[in-house]
Amino acid sequence: MFKLLKTDDKTKARRGQLTTAHGVIQTPIFMPVGTQGTVKTLHPDDLVDLGSQIILGNTYHLNLRPGLDVIRAAQGLHKFSSWDMPILTDSGGFQVWSLAKLRKISEEGVAFANHLDGSKMMLSPESSMEIQATLGSDIAMLFDECPPYPCDEKYAADSLALTTRWAKRCKQWHEENRSSIVPWQLDNSLIANPTEVSRQLAFGIVQGSTYADLREQSAKELIEIGFDGYAVGGISVGEPEYEMIRAIDNAVPHLPQDKPRYAMGLGTPPQMLEMIARGVDMFDCVMPTRVARHGLAFTHDGPIHIKNKEFELDQRPLTETTHPSVARFSRSYIRHLWRAKEMLALRLLSFHNLHFYLQLMEQAREAIDNGNFTEFKDAFIARYTANSK
Ligand code: GUN
Repeated sequence: MFKLLKTDDKTKARRGQLTTAHGVIQTPIFMPVGTQGTVKTLHPDDLVDLGSQIILGNTYHLNLRPGLDVIRAAQGLHKFSSWDMPILTDSGGFQVWSLAKLRKISEEGVAFANHLDGSKMMLSPESSMEIQATLGSDIAMLFDECPPYPCDEKYAADSLALTTRWAKRCKQWHEENRSSIVPWQLDNSLIANPTEVSRQLAFGIVQGSTYADLREQSAKELIEIGFDGYAVGGISVGEPEYEMIRAIDNAVPHLPQDKPRYAMGLGTPPQMLEMIARGVDMFDCVMPTRVARHGLAFTHDGPIHIKNKEFELDQRPLTETTHPSVARFSRSYIRHLWRAKEMLALRLLSFHNLHFYLQLMEQAREAIDNGNFTEFKDAFIARYTANSK
């Protein structure tokens, strides 16, 4: 299911290949976020054109709207959204904490009032896995509690113990029920490029906040339960960058070499390269598409704000290596679209930013293959940070 193709000599960077029911993913990889079953402003063909190998969906949002009856009628999220490549779904716990109101956590799960109409709902390890199975994602995440930052050690330890107990329940539900509930998940005739993997994979999520011993404990407990891959959660929750890196350093060395590792909710381009150097294989982040909708474009010299006057007459493309669909437009024109509140501006900036992220991953993979990852990383970060405004 996961093949480690090469490990870098100087860093812990890895080249790998993850096989899922809907296709094979080359790692390291960035996964565009399609919370509502769409990557905002983009057509699925755009995502293929950009070289996206996998996208994200979300249990919390899709369960709320359109709801499982609609998903069942469509025979799963792939068919519903016309995306025939791999999908990873987050378990919903994180979104309950960030979006819902009146949250109440118990051993059973989390009760909350949803952010759309305030009606009362409940998510539990079993219901999260059931929703993810019904969505028919290729990779389901376990239902966890993501503690806030800062977090005292007692809270972090109790929370981690709960996440481990929930992980056991997720695993049990997944083993016992998955195939009977979602026949379309096992139906290769619905998949354009079926692989030898015909089941949904399940990933554990290492928690433990900023505490090294708790991160180690969490990793060991999850490995004992046994998952197809392991994520590091509870990062990018408002902590300084050095704490984020420390959390990765505290977790990744305890994870098995032969399973994929996923840093949840990250990050900036330099952060992703630093994490790859520490042995992380997978990333997701709303940043490239969210900041695009605020007029920000990633460049090799750091992000630029397209509304700035300095681009008024700038005839250059956003970057020298952007996708041909975007390269035909000048900064001057995209600035004009932005100022005129034209929708094409949002679309071009989203397309460009995802291209920047996916190209960075492709270059990282190539550099690991060629044995020059450190040189590539250092040169990229030096240029990116030297000129960042
Ligand atoms: N997305 C970003 N961080 C997290 C996390 O800690 N848990 C989950 N489930 N999703 C996340």
